[in-house]
Amino acid sequence: MSAGESLYHRLGGKEQISNVVDEFYERVLADDTVAHFFEDVDMAAQRAHQTQFLSAVAGGPVEYDGEDMREAHEGMGIEPQHFAAIATHLEAALREFDVPDGDIEAIMSEVAALEDDVLCR
Ligand code: HEM
Repeated sequence: MSAGESLYHRLGGKEQISNVVDEFYERVLADDTVAHFFEDVDMAAQRAHQTQFLSAVAGGPVEYDGEDMREAHEGMGIEPQHFAAIATHLEAALREFDVPDGDIEAIMSEVAALEDDVLCR
């Protein structure tokens, strides 16, 4: 089992991850600086986004490669401050569910590693 897999399972697998992502998106949608990105996104797509987002960064069983990540966010005009806001909301959601500091650090460094792809640079 890779370190990523154990992190995914330590988070509580799908069920607990879905609680964290609900909290994450509540924060995202309550933030006027980033909420508009999700305005025209349907709920099913949003749900997929939130679950894949966290599962991918926690090393869960999710199909992900850098190319797709780039394509998924192309042409949206996402800037570094938007990325930073999203990362902050994820970190706050993880804290809300008492995820240990070391795991939060590991997740946030995975998130940081995706920044160039998400910003398409
Ligand atoms: C590490 C950071 C991020 C990850 C892991 C991530 C993950 C993903 C994934 C996997 C998809 C594809 C969903 C699908 O194909 O159904 C997606 C789409 C999307 N992402 Fe992200 N994302 C990140 C950052 C961001 C940021 C910073 C924004 C905007 C501020 C954003 C806004 C969106 C939007 C609007 C979509 C399109 C949803 C749709 O129409 O299907 N994402 N993201």
